[in-house]
Amino acid sequence: MKSIKKTLVIGLGLIGGSLALALRKAGLAGTIIGCDRDQEEVDLAIQIGMIDQGSTQAEDWIAEADLIIVSVPVIAMESVMEQLKPLLRPDTIVTDVGSSKGSVLQSAVKIWGALPANFILGHPIAGSEKSGVSAALVDLYQNHKVILTPAPENNPQAVSVVSQMWQAAGAEVLTMDIERHDEVLAATSHLPHMLAFSLVDTLASQDESLEIFRYAAGGFRDFTRIAASDPVMWRDIYIANKPAVLQALTEFEQGLSRLRTAIEESDSDAMLGIFTRAKAAREHFSRILENSAYIPMQNKLINYRTAPGTALSGRIRVPGDKSVSHRSIMLGSLAEGVTHVKGFLEGEDSLATLQAFRDMGVVIEGPHQGEVTIHGVGLNGLKKPAGALYLGNSGTSMRLLAGLLAGQAFDVELTGDASLTKRPMERVAKPLREMGAVVETAEGGRPPMMIRGGQSLKGIDYKMPMASAQVKSCVLLAGLYAEGETKTTEPAPTRDHTERMLSGFGYEVVRDGATASLQGGGKLKASDIDVPSDISSAAFFMVAGSIAERSEILIEHVGMNPTRIGIVNILREMGADITLENESEVGGEPVADVRVRSADLKGIDIPQDQVPLAIDEFPVLFVAAACAEGVTRLRGAEELRVKESDRIQVMADGLLALGIECTVYEDGIDIVGGKLGGGRVHSHDDHRIAMSFAVASLRAEGEIFIEDCANVATSFPGFVELANGVGMNISVEEA
Ligand code: S3P
Repeated sequence: MKSIKKTLVIGLGLIGGSLALALRKAGLAGTIIGCDRDQEEVDLAIQIGMIDQGSTQAEDWIAEADLIIVSVPVIAMESVMEQLKPLLRPDTIVTDVGSSKGSVLQSAVKIWGALPANFILGHPIAGSEKSGVSAALVDLYQNHKVILTPAPENNPQAVSVVSQMWQAAGAEVLTMDIERHDEVLAATSHLPHMLAFSLVDTLASQDESLEIFRYAAGGFRDFTRIAASDPVMWRDIYIANKPAVLQALTEFEQGLSRLRTAIEESDSDAMLGIFTRAKAAREHFSRILENSAYIPMQNKLINYRTAPGTALSGRIRVPGDKSVSHRSIMLGSLAEGVTHVKGFLEGEDSLATLQAFRDMGVVIEGPHQGEVTIHGVGLNGLKKPAGALYLGNSGTSMRLLAGLLAGQAFDVELTGDASLTKRPMERVAKPLREMGAVVETAEGGRPPMMIRGGQSLKGIDYKMPMASAQVKSCVLLAGLYAEGETKTTEPAPTRDHTERMLSGFGYEVVRDGATASLQGGGKLKASDIDVPSDISSAAFFMVAGSIAERSEILIEHVGMNPTRIGIVNILREMGADITLENESEVGGEPVADVRVRSADLKGIDIPQDQVPLAIDEFPVLFVAAACAEGVTRLRGAEELRVKESDRIQVMADGLLALGIECTVYEDGIDIVGGKLGGGRVHSHDDHRIAMSFAVASLRAEGEIFIEDCANVATSFPGFVELANGVGMNISVEEA
């Protein structure tokens, strides 16, 4: 950073004073000179060591300063600039802290004719109701955001100096253009303050105001706290940021009038729509602030430390099936009428699907303890979302949505997290293009995906090159919007939840061996859904109960769809003691309670026809193989390389680290059963890898430390509690 020998702070209020304190602490600002209208404030600032020298006359110091921070109210900016103009050296860097930027730019243009190259406009998003030198805090900017609004005429070096200055004060620096800054602040700060001032003023001027305030508890108090802010400052802000504030107010008035109409007309759906969308948005926002939703999940690092557990015992119920949960939201949203869902998986993946449909205007109540109510909008009732649909870690959401969005009237962009962004989407883009859809992907056929609306789709007869339920479902869902018949033929049976649920919603799907077909242009009729427990989640406990000694557990109400039971078949062939009890059917899907007892497993050649039927269960099956006697061989499983991680390589790396011998092939692996040692493994952003190694700990001779396990929340919220409840020994450590 350019060396700063002298810094001049003009205005020693809370903002300028706190910055002086923080820069002094960071040792970055050289000699600090402070100026304020009030001599007593200057004296106090010198006395507490905030500044080295100062006075009420900024003119005396301008020519010698290398850096000038103008921290006066926006309304006073222009007169400070007038003082600066004749004395400012061309190499001195100037920045300000005003909360509206358009007006500061205008003043600068008025004074200098154009914004000086070294004058960088900025705005720290921090403050408090207090003011003056005595209120200044050295850590006011710690973990707060500062927005810089560099203009094209600005000198990039000066931008970098100002940015480093704020970082040294502990702030996170963002950049935005001036207009955007003013719009964002108008909407997020200026409008809410205006509403609070106005509401309190309106209520206070009613005759019975005293009575009203006596009863005004939580809601009023929460909503109007900010009406106690500084009136002069806020008057200045509304004058300075008038156009953006009025625009935000217009949009708010339109929203309020929609709500007014909904109330006048007792329009329950419209009211619920507004409230559920707002509630979800507010919760999402709170989670961002608390660092706990799927956006921050990428930032939050959770590790598992596992130790061998005791003999496992107990009766458990694992969360709802992920595949069925996704589809319940999709078909419920596109149906006519109201769909009630029970047993919905409240994991990040299925919540991403739920949020996507809310973003497209569907009213969805819940989830509350697995219950969700979806107010279907019909096949053509979705609305264009305001922005891209963010699908987190969920490949199922992206691939299935691509199909049903290909037939909409609007354009939509699908994005996801770092892991999803690496996954192949060409496999769905290709058949969709054959149907007439316009689908763009990023380089290498990866997300984000852009789907152009307003295309007319035609049915196709698609011979799938890989056994993928997501590709099949994508094509069939696009087929709902296509002219004529859409047909898919799969090379091996894959999960058929889409076909079953479409039939359950009254949409005819003809199934003939490997082929499924439907006619476009029909309707879906709302139908209640009881989501069975996820066999893919139960799988961890099937292996755990088998490999742990003297164990017996019962896993209730597990989905036993024949296209998903590869795990049971393979484990049984390895010698596992698994029995099914209470077999029944719920909403077109078979379910059973699964009893698992310890058993001595032996290595096998995994039958290839079982591979698609156990596709998500291989990570934990590899753990079973590591505990089995002899060699387990898997082939024909190249799809495992394009899951949330390359599951063949990542599991092999982890098993090798724990002392298990294995050989990797392009489409599979050989695993030699043996003694599992302790060690350190990495989940590679993959929930099922994390849970599989937690299960491995049951037979490990030492502790297994599993890095990066926050992802478990995508499919199995509550995994650790449930596992420890039956006798496993996992502790969660936040990194
Ligand atoms: C799923 C299909 C499978 C599976 C995924 C869920 C689905 O993916 O791995 O977890 O819900 O359709 P592929 O279709 O890529 O095999």
